[in-house]
Amino acid sequence: MSLLKEPDLGTPARPGPATVSVEVDGLPVSVPEGTSVMRAAARSGIEIPKLCATDSLEAFGSCRLCLVEVDGRRGTPASCTTPVADGMKVRTQTPRLEKLRQGVMELYISDHPLDCLTCSANGDCELQDMSGVVGLRQVRYGYEGENHLDITKDTSNPYFDFDPSKCIVCSRCVRACGEVQGTFALTIEGRGFESTVSPSAGELFMDSECVSCGACVQACPTATLQEKSVVDLGMPTRSVLTTCAYCGVGCSFKAELRGDELVRMVPYKDGGANEGHSCVKGRFAFGYAGHPDRVLRPMIRERITDEWREVEWETAIGHVAQRMRDIQARHGTGAIGGITSSRCTNEEVYVVQKMVRAAFGNNNVDTCARVCHSPTGYGLKQTFGTSAGTQDFRSVAEADVIVVIGANPTDGHPVFASRMKRRLREGAKLVVVDPRRIDLVRSPHVEAEHHLQLQPGTNVAVINAMAHVVVTEGLVDQSFVDDRCADFEDWREFIARPENSPEAVEPVTGVPAGELRAAARLYAGGGNAAIYYGLGVTEHSQGSTMVMGMANLAMATGNIGRDGVGVNPLRGQNNVQGSCDMGSFPHELSGYRHVSDDAVREVFETLWQRPIVPDPGLRIPNMFDAAVDGTFRGLFVQGEDIAQSDPNTKHVTAALEAMELVVVQDLFRNETAEYAHVFLPGTSFLEKDGTFTNAERRINRVRPVMAARTGLHEWQIVCEIARAMGYTMSYAHPREIMDEIASVTPTFSGVSFEKLDKLGSVQWPCDSSAPEGTPVMHVDAFVRGKGRFVPTPFVPTSERSTRRFPLILTTGRILSQYNVGAQTRRTRNVVWHPEDVLEIHPHDAEVRGIADGDEVSLSSRVGETRLRAVLADRMPVGVVYTTFHHPVTGANVVTTENSDWATNCPEYKVTAVQVGLSRAGAGPEAEWDAESAVSLVDR
Ligand code: SF4
Ligand code: SF4
Ligand code: SF4
Ligand code: FES
Repeated sequence: MSLLKEPDLGTPARPGPATVSVEVDGLPVSVPEGTSVMRAAARSGIEIPKLCATDSLEAFGSCRLCLVEVDGRRGTPASCTTPVADGMKVRTQTPRLEKLRQGVMELYISDHPLDCLTCSANGDCELQDMSGVVGLRQVRYGYEGENHLDITKDTSNPYFDFDPSKCIVCSRCVRACGEVQGTFALTIEGRGFESTVSPSAGELFMDSECVSCGACVQACPTATLQEKSVVDLGMPTRSVLTTCAYCGVGCSFKAELRGDELVRMVPYKDGGANEGHSCVKGRFAFGYAGHPDRVLRPMIRERITDEWREVEWETAIGHVAQRMRDIQARHGTGAIGGITSSRCTNEEVYVVQKMVRAAFGNNNVDTCARVCHSPTGYGLKQTFGTSAGTQDFRSVAEADVIVVIGANPTDGHPVFASRMKRRLREGAKLVVVDPRRIDLVRSPHVEAEHHLQLQPGTNVAVINAMAHVVVTEGLVDQSFVDDRCADFEDWREFIARPENSPEAVEPVTGVPAGELRAAARLYAGGGNAAIYYGLGVTEHSQGSTMVMGMANLAMATGNIGRDGVGVNPLRGQNNVQGSCDMGSFPHELSGYRHVSDDAVREVFETLWQRPIVPDPGLRIPNMFDAAVDGTFRGLFVQGEDIAQSDPNTKHVTAALEAMELVVVQDLFRNETAEYAHVFLPGTSFLEKDGTFTNAERRINRVRPVMAARTGLHEWQIVCEIARAMGYTMSYAHPREIMDEIASVTPTFSGVSFEKLDKLGSVQWPCDSSAPEGTPVMHVDAFVRGKGRFVPTPFVPTSERSTRRFPLILTTGRILSQYNVGAQTRRTRNVVWHPEDVLEIHPHDAEVRGIADGDEVSLSSRVGETRLRAVLADRMPVGVVYTTFHHPVTGANVVTTENSDWATNCPEYKVTAVQVGLSRAGAGPEAEWDAESAVSLVDR
């Protein structure tokens, strides 16, 4: 599929019916009101020359190349800034226009380097194209006059260069940075001839506010902003449409190749999740797929202290099967299990849970979503009837009030954050509920109306207090509640109790009652109100309670079932939604159906020809406990670094050490692999063929950009292990796995690769009643019939600060790094975040004698680590914050085993800690750590 050039209609679409009829060069065309003449012409198949216009940005009208003549009007208006009027007759090609356009182009070219043949953008330059289109044949002004040809290049960004000598000052980059990305890092400085593009007022790109999203590079019509990879490797010649494998936004990209070499990833304009935008990770941080650290051949060893031995696939697969069977013979069927990965495709996850259920003969399969969004699954199923967010991303454009709880979208879900910021700039109101002052609280042209800076661990008290205000101040949407919901009266009685009032909870939450009341009134009375939340909601001892609390609030105010409202998890990894959908929980088969349901089991048993155990299997923490007890002895781990990402590292590694067989399937020898007996090399997203499901339930195709470097796909390996254990699992292609998923999963019954290829993507439920998918859920009725109110009493976590551990640690992520960093640490992204640091309030630092940059020890009741302190007042006094992207700091060494009461999701967000100056001080060792992270890139 070659998609190098997507159509560009010049200016953005306008909503509404095509009611305005015009004639362009004699061709009739009807378009919505407000459409530009340029776009109307493009709609009728006529391309008007342009340079400063592109359909992802509002028109600016600076280049004067798109001039047209309009009957009955004087002059030659710019078609990009002129809206259509009914009956308008437009001419785009006349001798006068030709002359004017040639004159404009002459001026541009007279101040442009004449190195087209050696320019990296040769063949992909709109200036070059337009010179041809307008028929430029001469430049009368010569090249000797004053010009910009000697301006120095800015090569400071690791991924793209800025060569101002080629700039035509069209301002597309400036507008892209503002309108699309919402960072406003670029300006045009100076006037007239002196005009020049400038990052953050004259700084280098790397020193500016630029977040390297690439939007300006994408928008630039010349080689002024150009990917370094294009400069180095040359212009791509073909492209494959696929999906980013970093976060749950699920952006669509064109992987552009030159021969078999991947040159760049370009965001796809028709991508449902991203609409042509990207962040630094998906756009640029793909180099890890070719990193020399990749393991490409299977390896085995008897003991974890032995050296690894490379073997053939057949040997490795036979070894795994034989050892698994041997363990079962000695310790019982339930002594082995598997963990699926949210980094893998739906098809890869599905076959692992099938292998566990049909070949292992138990339900000991769990997913890494256990440690992130399992409370979302539980909470939304209890209240709404299904375990997924309610809206598509597009819906945020209709929100009047946006409530962000325990999420940091500009770092964690950047492309969705850009869509959200656009709506906020248009006037939607923002409420942020977070212990930390995230960037969204105040950023260019965006300021939160309310920042409820609560103490970590008090989410439920805050959401209850907001609901208390709604109920006691007469803000309930009674007709919605009466028509659509059940169990309201019990909940109303509970929530109206005085102990749930903002005043009563203020001493615990730290949120001023007046502020909380104002936020609740805004949510209930400000129009369409939408909640977006992240791991700051789920990773708590009351994670599931909080999810239900948000659902209660949305139902009570009628903010469910239409555009602009809803309760929406911002999923962490690329396929968290999908890995949960695929039945990789110990208690649920695909589509969230309980294993104890005889009718559901029968569907699978008939197809698989194997009995399925009706009792739930072990969750991940239960597997670890059972391993330490000696009853669980063999584990297959698909693409997940549990030794780094799961809480209480000591306990996890003790469990891994206790097992007879640990099989790791991954790209790199990660921390878990240190405890493995078999390493099965995995494929990167560039090699995979299948689907990912993003946070808005959107099923996107992942297409292979290159052949599997390991020789076998992950789903093939899993099928081979099952076969070697005596159970035949056979597919000719991943499309057949999706066909099987569709045949056993009602919400996927209309999904197939063919449909995805035709429609681009679909959002489940996709079935006979919604053959093209369901962007917004619960429109006329909840999936469970009536939405169910569930009382959500606040129970403080048992993790309290004490004299020994007086601070509370909470964790999060940063834009440039991803999860445990296995991928991003192997890219140039490390220049932005070479190490995890501890943010500590200046007051807490001062009383401990800690200065900015000191190395400090961070200890909890389960462990201790060291990192560098950064003084920051983003958190309240008494709260410290760190990220978990680098194994050298191992933030999870200190996190405890406390977990959500319903799902066992770890309470990563609340750990009582002490911080002190490290005895070693900020010495050479600390520096070595940071350097070693950077050096991963160069190896
Ligand atoms: S850098 Fe590119 S997009 Fe920006 S003003 Fe110059 S030519 Fe236009
Ligand atoms: S890369 Fe993104 S953030 Fe940086 S200047 Fe360009 S548009 Fe702005
Ligand atoms: S927002 Fe997420 S899915 Fe999109 S490019 Fe960035 S990391 Fe990839
Ligand atoms: S494209 Fe219309 S003025 Fe530049």
